[in-house]
Amino acid sequence: MNDSAQTFQAPRVLVFDSGVGGLSVAREIQQRLPQVSLVYASDNAFFPYGTKGEAELIARVDQVITALLARSPADILVIACNTASTLTLPHLRSKLNLPIVGVVPAIKPATLMSKSGVIGLLATPATVARPYTHELIREYATNCQVISLGSSALVQIAEQKLRGEAIDITVIGTITQALMNTENAEKMDVLVLACTHFPLLKEELAQLLPARLTLIDSGAAIARRVEFLLADCAEASADYVPEHLAVFTKATAEAAQLAPALTRFNIYQQAYLNI
Ligand code: DGL
Repeated sequence: MNDSAQTFQAPRVLVFDSGVGGLSVAREIQQRLPQVSLVYASDNAFFPYGTKGEAELIARVDQVITALLARSPADILVIACNTASTLTLPHLRSKLNLPIVGVVPAIKPATLMSKSGVIGLLATPATVARPYTHELIREYATNCQVISLGSSALVQIAEQKLRGEAIDITVIGTITQALMNTENAEKMDVLVLACTHFPLLKEELAQLLPARLTLIDSGAAIARRVEFLLADCAEASADYVPEHLAVFTKATAEAAQLAPALTRFNIYQQAYLNI
């Protein structure tokens, strides 16, 4: 090993979500930037975010991110959660001195992709109701109809799936059916998965939804943005293998159960903040 290899510090990206959803974003970052070192953080103690009040969520995200950065300094912070990003980004950006990438509903790409002018938005109830989301729709979906549906059940099902538990496809079916029973849904041709948990259920959703629907999310765009922001960081040698870590805010049996799923994201170590 030469000197530069010994002293090399891989760019560090902190990817944060309420639970496992942000892994759908971490996967895109790993694919695009295989030599970046990831800390994947799950606020499992306060999960789920989609049912929490705004003031308590802003305070909680502030508390957890502050503790995470104190424990694991990062070059970039990715808020891999639509529910948190659509609410907390201005506060975090005013407070923290590092680049922050937020994940917000992919309304703009969906409207550019849609031929029928009818798009769907599947998110947590909180994201569907956020003024930020309404503003995105007003700004980018001027010539489109947006059919929105909020679901907390899908978030829970994605968590079960990653814990290796059996999931009930009929429950997912009632949600897709509710979406497709909405007026004009027969014209919908693009569906925005605006909760980072939902790409983890993409196969199940695709099975249940009409084949004409294109399912999109923000993961790949986030990875491109991270790449852009890391352009000035040192590059690793070709054989460098980064180490990744999962940090949970609470040590629970459910968190331990995620270990096999985490290895599919090359994450072999877990730590706990207990906050
Ligand atoms: N994964 C999160 C999102 O993108 C939210 C899930 C939750 O309700 O905690 O919105």
